[in-house]
Amino acid sequence: MASLTVRRLDDEIKVALKLRAAKNGRSVEDEVRVILRDAAGSAEPATIDPGAERPQPRVEGGRRVTLIIGGGIAAYKALDLIRRIKERGFYVRVVLTQAATHFVTALTVSALADERCYTDLFDSQSEFDAGHIRLARDCDLIVVAPATADLMAKMAHGLADDLASAVLLATDKPILLAPAMNPLMWRNAATRRNVAQLLHDGVLTVGPNAGEMAEANEAGLGRMSEPLEIAAKVEAMLRPKQLQNLQPQSLNGLRVLITAGPTHEPIDPVRYIANRSSGKQGYAIAAAAAAAGAETVLVSGPVNLPDPKGVRVMRVESARDMLSRVEQSLPADIAIFAAAVADWRVSNAGEQKIKKSASGLPQLDLVENPDILATIAKRTHDRPKLVIGFAAETEHVAQNATAKLARKGSDWIVANDVSPATGIMGGDSNTVQIFMKDHTAPETWPAMSKDDVAGRLIARIAQAVHGVPPKSMS
Ligand code: CTP
Repeated sequence: MASLTVRRLDDEIKVALKLRAAKNGRSVEDEVRVILRDAAGSAEPATIDPGAERPQPRVEGGRRVTLIIGGGIAAYKALDLIRRIKERGFYVRVVLTQAATHFVTALTVSALADERCYTDLFDSQSEFDAGHIRLARDCDLIVVAPATADLMAKMAHGLADDLASAVLLATDKPILLAPAMNPLMWRNAATRRNVAQLLHDGVLTVGPNAGEMAEANEAGLGRMSEPLEIAAKVEAMLRPKQLQNLQPQSLNGLRVLITAGPTHEPIDPVRYIANRSSGKQGYAIAAAAAAAGAETVLVSGPVNLPDPKGVRVMRVESARDMLSRVEQSLPADIAIFAAAVADWRVSNAGEQKIKKSASGLPQLDLVENPDILATIAKRTHDRPKLVIGFAAETEHVAQNATAKLARKGSDWIVANDVSPATGIMGGDSNTVQIFMKDHTAPETWPAMSKDDVAGRLIARIAQAVHGVPPKSMS
């Protein structure tokens, strides 16, 4: 089989590859695989048809775990842990320390994880795109199992002389350790100091448990927690609090339609008008609606997010595409318009790339886009029972949100302050106020993660639909 070193490609191709990989939410390596598979006539398409429905991903709300397997006898249990984490719908990427390769093979790990595993800090293939940084950041949680005394000592002292310790030093994600070692090593003063330091640094642990050791006639505290115990902790850490409490059936039998992300309005085939929306809030709402049992349809502008579990996703580019997909998706019981739709498009968009010319600047004529929220809220036929809009404001939030509620004909407006200082646009947290048609005073919610806003909004909707306070609201 021929091998390809991405590092040796032309710079231009490397840049194009990186952009394409980022756009499709894949690693550069995975993108190359898709291109090659496609070229070889495989069924997997290399490009995303913007209007096409995408197959369900195997990822729960895009949640990823980087699992670091340390070099101890308990490493064999980490193989089961990979399965247990995947069973819960999370994506697992594995790093093996050199010592771990004496206990489990890279081949077995890759087969269980469904992708290659990583062992070498200086791996030319993955380090071409700073692989250790990707392993450290492109995940929601890092799990170290087994966490050996040696690995914990390195972490406590900030050493980074191999891939596993470099990933642990370079991350800003939560870390969960499942320590495993001989009871004497666990009780050793050096290990006690290191564990205390790590706990002080905010690292979490599961176990160790007491029991028989692999060494004959030895028992005590030091056995790694069982894979099911570790997986349960992973699940508790990754599933947003509001989703954990959400009554699973609270929107059963209802159809929820959601818009998310920005829209792209073409200027010519290579340029477009866009905005800074990441789509995170709309995607989180879709995940929460599906978790509450709703049949959920998400019409999404161009974003770099995986499809939420259990949600039918339709990808679009422009406001007009979004409106047409939304109309095709009716009837729905509840419609939530979280998209940051571009207000204007270029009426004279170029068929070919507009070139610079000595005769002056190009004249771009803007026309207003259709207002999707207002169009649906004002329908006389098939109007969803509950229509919810968002209001992204940079000033006079209450005044503008109240005006939008009336102007657009929606039932609720979820208003947020998106001025740059708040970091809401593109960030992970949100502070919202809910304005309702028949209420004079808005509900003001404290600052929370976008996942929590989503869970609370869905719980609030369930309450309104059923007229009964769901558990999660109490
Ligand atoms: N919206 C929409 N279609 C548009 C514009 C906005 O569906 N063409 C929806 C958004 O999804 C959101 C609500 O309308 O739910 C308010 O969007 P926002 O951008 O805050 O307000 P605009 O209507 O664009 O008004 P302005 O830009 O003047 O604040």
